[in-house]
Amino acid sequence: MLQLQQLQLTHFRNYQQHNFQFDRNIVGICGANGVGKTNLIDAIYYLSFSKSYFSRTDASNVQHNLQGFRISGDYLLNQKNLNTTCIVRENNKKEFSFNKEEYTKFSEHIGKLPCVMIAPDDVELISGAAELRRKFIDVIISQINKDYLNAIIKYNQLLLQRNSILKKYPHQYDDALFSIITDQFIKSGDYIFKIRQQFLTSFLPKVIANYLLIAESEESIQAQYSSQLQQQPFKDLLKANQSNDFQLQRTTVGTHKDDIEFLLNNVKFKTIASQGQRKSLLFALKLSEWQTIQEHKGFYPILLLDDVFEKLDEHRMQNLLHMVTQNKASQIFITDTHLERLEHHLKNIEQPYQIVQLSSN
Ligand SMILES: Nc1ncnc2c1ncn2[C@@H]1O[C@H](COP(=O)(O)OP(=O)(O)OP(=O)(O)O)[C@@H](O)[C@H]1O
Ligand SMILES: [Mg+2]
Repeated sequence: MLQLQQLQLTHFRNYQQHNFQFDRNIVGICGANGVGKTNLIDAIYYLSFSKSYFSRTDASNVQHNLQGFRISGDYLLNQKNLNTTCIVRENNKKEFSFNKEEYTKFSEHIGKLPCVMIAPDDVELISGAAELRRKFIDVIISQINKDYLNAIIKYNQLLLQRNSILKKYPHQYDDALFSIITDQFIKSGDYIFKIRQQFLTSFLPKVIANYLLIAESEESIQAQYSSQLQQQPFKDLLKANQSNDFQLQRTTVGTHKDDIEFLLNNVKFKTIASQGQRKSLLFALKLSEWQTIQEHKGFYPILLLDDVFEKLDEHRMQNLLHMVTQNKASQIFITDTHLERLEHHLKNIEQPYQIVQLSSN
């Protein structure tokens, strides 16, 4: 199992210098608004992904009026001690190391110390743009398939290059270069489509099953992968839309238009679902991510639950906590502003837990 045992924060957001020891699988983090609960679990996220979950720049995480920050975590993974350290220097240059060895490419770290975050604004994943759902899927697959992560990076580069050639049309347009880029673009799009299709065939049924477990109801919910590449091969699709691309000066078709569609009673989920249903679907997606990574790695990712008590009714909350703690093989961090509420939920789990109480000084 994967367990974070020690976390050291230096000049990271509101933490001047702080050392946390974690000796339980279940860790409650408690304190008033603005005390640093979200900052603490975002630091843990940083150590998994080399960046913030809340997509701020590295520089915005440096404590105000100071230069640079450092996050260091000591982990235990299957009886082995591991350390990961992230340093942002005074000039905003980032260094990231695993067991004292510095990475040249941060993407090599992705998937080594996996974690799954569930945060308040994540409900956007259900109601927001398709891009968020693509990113969600990409982050999961990237953690279990390095080639896929590289393919996504490559595809995005090629998309930019292709679009910049299209922008030069017709005056400075380079047809030979356009063909070379388009051929590579097709290869990487085909690969992404194939992997997404394979992955979602097993992932989406999990999401539905988890939704029904959390909701404890027989709601009719469906999930499907939707891609333009399902209609015709990518090569043909690009050809058919070529004149359109030239006119609009950008690539209008491809896997960068993919989405996952959810239906509730055969109607688009995001148009009819209640807030509670949206939240349940969000948790179902994240839990499926957590389970999928476990299946591939043989250990559970660390689960970071930020303010989840605000999101679900008591019954759904208990179902969720039961689901994530019953195997006793995953470390879970849960933040809350109310100590009694947090303790009430943690006691119900009937497993050892630790409470970290934060205060503003
Ligand atoms: N770069 C920074 N330097 C110093 N302080 C910062 C920085 N970025 C954020 N903060 C401070 O961190 C605090 C917010 O921390 P955080 O979001 O972790 O609070 P929280 O405990 O999760 O609160 P809530 O219960 O409202 O969610 C704010 O007081 C903010 O001023
Ligand atoms: Mg918070």
